[in-house]
Order: sequence, then C-alpha cells, then structure tokens
Amino acid sequence: MTAALRVGPGRVLRGEVRVPGDKSIAHRALLLGALADGTSVVRGFTGGADVEATLGVVQALGAMARWKDATVEITGRGLELGRDAPVALDCANSGTTMRLTAGLVAARAGDVTLDGDASLRRRPMERVAAPLRAMGARIDTHEGRPPLRVRGGALEAIEYVLPVASAQVKSAVLLAGLRTAGETRIHEPLPTRDHTERMLAAMGGAVTRTAATVTVRGGVALRPLMLTLPADPSSAAFFAVAASLVPGAELVLRDVGLNPTRTGGLDLLERMGAHIERRTVQEEGGEPRADVVVRAGRLHGIVIAPHEVPGAIDELPVLAIAAALAEGETRLSGAAELRVKESDRLAALAQLRDVGGDVDITDDGFVIRGTGGRPLRGGRIAAGGDHRIAMAFAVAGLGSEGGIEIDDPDCARVSYPGFFEQLVALGAGVEPA
Ligand code: S3P
Repeated sequence: MTAALRVGPGRVLRGEVRVPGDKSIAHRALLLGALADGTSVVRGFTGGADVEATLGVVQALGAMARWKDATVEITGRGLELGRDAPVALDCANSGTTMRLTAGLVAARAGDVTLDGDASLRRRPMERVAAPLRAMGARIDTHEGRPPLRVRGGALEAIEYVLPVASAQVKSAVLLAGLRTAGETRIHEPLPTRDHTERMLAAMGGAVTRTAATVTVRGGVALRPLMLTLPADPSSAAFFAVAASLVPGAELVLRDVGLNPTRTGGLDLLERMGAHIERRTVQEEGGEPRADVVVRAGRLHGIVIAPHEVPGAIDELPVLAIAAALAEGETRLSGAAELRVKESDRLAALAQLRDVGGDVDITDDGFVIRGTGGRPLRGGRIAAGGDHRIAMAFAVAGLGSEGGIEIDDPDCARVSYPGFFEQLVALGAGVEPA
C-alpha cells in the first residue's frame, strides 16, 4: 500500500489525458459477453479492481475470458451459463458486480454466494433481492446486506416499479429477465444510465424502451459484442474539474463517453461556468464518445435539483470540490443515495471544513459557500477507502495553499489505477506526506 500523499498546486495543468475505459460499460460487457454465443472482444479494458472483480466472477461462472494488452476476449456459454456446484464469488469493493451478478445467476438453478470487502458488506442489497424474489428466486441477505446467497431457478417475468433510481437494480432485473420466459418490464422514477439496454440491443437482445420503461423478452440468444470502451466520463470528471480550477490550465480528455445518461456531471460543471468543448462525437457499439477540451474558467455556485442527481451521481463528490472554490453558494438536494455508496459520501464531504471550505451537510445533500477562487487552506483528509473521495480531495489539493494529504491514495485503483501518476505527469505537485 502506498503511504499518504500530499497533493498541492504544482505547475499549470496542461496536456492530454486518456482516462481508463468506462467501468459501467466494462462490467456489462463481461456479464453479457458471458451469456452470449461466441467470442466477444472488448478493447480499451484498462483494468481497475472493480472490473477485475467482474472478470473473476464470469470466469468462476464458466465463461472463458482472457485479458491481454487492454483487450478482453470472452467466450460466452450462452443463456445456459452457470454452475451445478455451489459457487462463492468475491465482488471485492464493487456494488455493480454484486447487484448485476445477482440478477444474472438468479434465473438458472444453482447456489451462488456473493461477498465483498468491508465497504461492500455495509451496502444495501434488499433493493436487488426484492424484485428477484418477486420473480421467484430464493435470496438470503445478512440483514439486508452482503453476503448474498442466491438460489435460482426458472423465474417468472414481472412488471416492476423501481423504488429508487438505480441503474444497478434495473440491470439486475433485466439480466434475470433475459433468461426468463415472457416479458419483464421495469419502470424508472428518473432516467438512470442505460448501458445495459444499449448493449443488449447491439447484441440482438429483444429490448424495447420508452422514456421511463424498459422491456426485455427472455430466451433470445445474444450475439457476441465487438466494442472499444470509451474513456469513463466519471473518471474524466476529476480532470475536468481540475482544469476548470487551476489558472491557465488546458486539458484534452480523449475519447470520453458522452452517453446522455452519463453527462450530467459535465453539464453541471458547464452550468457553473466551466469552459468545455466537445469535439466531433462518434458512436461505437451504441455508445457516443468524443474528445473533450476543458480550460480554466471562473466558476459560480448553482442549484442542483433532485431530478439531476442520477445523471451525475458519481461526479457529485468532485463537483462539491468545484463548488468549494467557486463564487457563491451551491445547493444539492435529493442525493441521499450518496450515503450508501462505497462510503457515506456526504459525511466524507464534511471534511471540506477541515481543509478550509465552508460546507453544511444536510440529510440528502449539501450547501457549499465557495471561496470565489481563493485557495483552500489545505490539511489532511481520510478517504475512508473510497476511490472517488480520494480523487476528489486530490483535485481540491490543486486548489489549496498548503496541499491536501490523502491518507489512502491506493484506493483510487478501484476505478483508476495510475490516477496519482497521471496527476504528476500533468504537472501537479504530488509528494509523500
Ligand atoms: C452504476 C450505477 C450507479 C453508480 C455506480 C455504477 C452502474 O449506482 O453510482 O457507480 O454501473 O450501474 P446505482 O445503480 O446504485 O445508482
């Protein structure tokens, strides 16, 4: 484990960055690739502990997967994927791995236990167990949390109204529906990321969509997938905020995924006054992407409404950093989901106070009064093992006088191996604390 690091201003941030391949799409490519007939090829697979957990899961379930030089070749077992003998799966820190896999395994006979690290063991799993039980699966949780034991079998199609806006729960039900006779239908309270739906359509699945409803017909064989992952917009967000905050900065973020269900963070940053240019948008495998150029600008506070939360959910921690340095007040509400991520991210953001920020945390959001561009004082924060908290406060360090010490920089490898090295390469001041 790397010891604590201090991130401070350093030189002007300039250059090009290609952040890792999209984590959400990578999970889905592995899981759907395992269900397909034939060999899928996924390029731009740059790793990270979360997607490596899913790679281990599909291998344990019987798919053949080989990862070499940022390409994964995965030979699926078709809709019969599964194991007769009991299987124990390690989902590490990854909620997406656990929730989507629960849906995947529920629709075939088997006995699968899903477990993970201390952070994952604190996260709510009833939200995925409830609809799968309604379809007929037997699911045990430990008081609503992992470990999760799934004893699957032939399920019944359901129509389900999601009680929380969650792409993970939606995807789990869709994955179960793929191997269930009839039509499984899901209604969303607010739009969430739709990578599963797009990928299913690209693989020949019988999926239909209206604004708030997605329907899948079970029993339809999937064709293998050929896809280059776009760069992950949620990882790119750290550099977009950094470039906005550091005077004179200009960063070119290569090939960033611009699926409209994922651009909420970038859109909010633009509303705060950031200079963001999206170059020519290309589409591959149903997923749009483009180079994005971000230049330093003067940011101001905004109001983030509850309906804007799902589209920016993973970017909210680093947007809080932008808010802490902006002119005026930023308010967020309707974001109680942040409390059940890899850590309680609202509680973690209260640490902005320890580095000179002015923040009030509410039940479901925050009120942040920005410095108007004056640097934060600096200090030390605890990432709580949460990759996005570690990286968000690293960005805050760039806008601080004395630097910000991150106790556990290593946890960034969950989504972004090499994040701190990339900061150094761009000119940030990073040193042992
Ligand atoms: C994800 C969905 C979101 C997001 C997570 C990845 C996905 O979680 O926060 O990082 O890949 O489906 P929820 O579905 O819990 O909102």
